[in-house]
Amino acid sequence: MKIALLGYGKMGKIIEKIAIDRGHEIVLKIDYDNLHELTVENLQKADAAIEFTTPASVLHNIDVCIAAGVPVVVGTTGWYDHIADVKDKCLQGNGAVMYASNYSVGVNVFFKVNQLLAKIMNNYPYYDVQVEEIHHMQKLDSPSGTAITIAEGILDNVAGKSNWTNVLITDNPETPQEPLKPEQLLIESHRIDSVPGTHTVIYDSEVDTIEFKHTAHNRNGFALGAVLAAEWLQHKKGFYTVHDMFNFDI
Ligand SMILES: NC(=O)c1ccc[n+]([C@@H]2O[C@H](COP(=O)([O-])OP(=O)(O)OC[C@H]3O[C@@H](n4cnc5c(N)ncnc54)[C@H](O)[C@@H]3O)[C@@H](O)[C@H]2O)c1
Repeated sequence: MKIALLGYGKMGKIIEKIAIDRGHEIVLKIDYDNLHELTVENLQKADAAIEFTTPASVLHNIDVCIAAGVPVVVGTTGWYDHIADVKDKCLQGNGAVMYASNYSVGVNVFFKVNQLLAKIMNNYPYYDVQVEEIHHMQKLDSPSGTAITIAEGILDNVAGKSNWTNVLITDNPETPQEPLKPEQLLIESHRIDSVPGTHTVIYDSEVDTIEFKHTAHNRNGFALGAVLAAEWLQHKKGFYTVHDMFNFDI
């Protein structure tokens, strides 16, 4: 399969290696210094595009892929307020788009078990729940897209929580925090050097604490998942999330 890489940063470089190892060919690489090469004509040389750039550039990149009729696997996070618009454009333009806050198999298993755990814990309202995420300092969005997906899995299942609230915690002196209302689900976002990504769901009560945690050791899992997604999406039309690809029904 011929792949166009949109974004050749930390993720783009690992995706290139894994794609080549799986027998694919990279026919286009777009990064900040050759944006002029992102044209419909150039994109049409590829069977699929994989997009890991920035929240500021992702919407335009998806538009160009839809215009070119090239399926695009979107890894960039931090744009999910625009999902409804992007879905409309994709369906009207007969495009193929998949997005995921996290392409790793392990995290997608975590998402599924998080939902099951939340369903169980809904029966025990004396546990309070919060989400913690830790990432590297360069991460532009906060909370992480993965933490938002985890929070949504809790909000869908725990009746006592109605919306999430993010508190960003860095090495800087802590900013004063507003007290939370009981129905608000706290996401604590920590930024520490060189951490690929850790997410923890904590249910705390007076008698005990349950911690459910995923730690990424490196970025290879995200990259492999993105290549698997491109293989899955290449002959399809429509708007998908990674959940359409992974089937964890038990
Ligand atoms: N969904 C997932 O599984 C997953 C996993 C890891 C990272 N991410 C997300 O992927 C994105 C990229 O992460 P990264 O670690 O590779 O970041 P990075 O900063 O290392 O790389 C981003 C690259 O995009 C380039 N770029 C900027 N504007 C561009 C444009 N208009 N067109 C093409 N390239 C452009 C930059 O020059 C840079 O090289 C982030 O949003 C991150 O949160 C998602």
